[in-house]
Amino acid sequence: MPEPIRIAAMASGGGTNLQAIIDACEAGKISGDVVVVISDRQDARVLERARKHNIEAIHVRVPRTGTPEWEDADRQITEIFTRRDIDLVVMAGYMRKIGPALISAFPDRIMNIHPGLLPAFPGVEVQWDAVEYGVKVAGPTIHFADEHFDHGPIIIQAAVPVLPGDSGQDLADRILKQEHRIYPQAIQWFAEGRLRVEGRIVKLLDPPEADDTQAIINPPPDGDF
Ligand code: GRF
Repeated sequence: MPEPIRIAAMASGGGTNLQAIIDACEAGKISGDVVVVISDRQDARVLERARKHNIEAIHVRVPRTGTPEWEDADRQITEIFTRRDIDLVVMAGYMRKIGPALISAFPDRIMNIHPGLLPAFPGVEVQWDAVEYGVKVAGPTIHFADEHFDHGPIIIQAAVPVLPGDSGQDLADRILKQEHRIYPQAIQWFAEGRLRVEGRIVKLLDPPEADDTQAIINPPPDGDF
């Protein structure tokens, strides 16, 4: 059995993904521990969640992107993680751009979750955009982070149907349920050393056999099709 990994989380909001990750660690589904949580927002609920589980919770003020002060904050965050011997950084609803110091200190060791099927719908509030656009399937993406928003190599995606009458919030809730499944799974693959990044492609070693007849078709076709 490999050593449990040391995980750092970055988040700006409610932190239900962080909660799913902590729960998976505590249940032994992830062979690792969240050892520190950083938020750019002092009042973020995610900091409370961390403290409840005796996880170190730190607020870091992150000034406007691209300024020298933002670069200072980037270096500060990097130092917090390197001092704690972090193996993997997970962004879980972190709404700020990460900086060059962090990216170069943790190559292929920073994950992000996005509530859209990348490369479609990058950005924010994309579940609302997806409903408005009229797509029939949507879903979350877990990917390694690079210097661009919602861009790095994709690890896992899940597809869910967009149902007639869905509001953006209905779709966001349906997608969030799958986020809570696939993020812990991606982290456990990392912990097991099963992810290899080759350019844009992430290879999963020893993958379970995929059912290549399986598809989410929405609206569901009539019986004859
Ligand atoms: C999730 O939808 C995530 O994909 C997006 O922000 C939301 C965070 O939710 N980046 P939570 O804070 O984990 O509940």
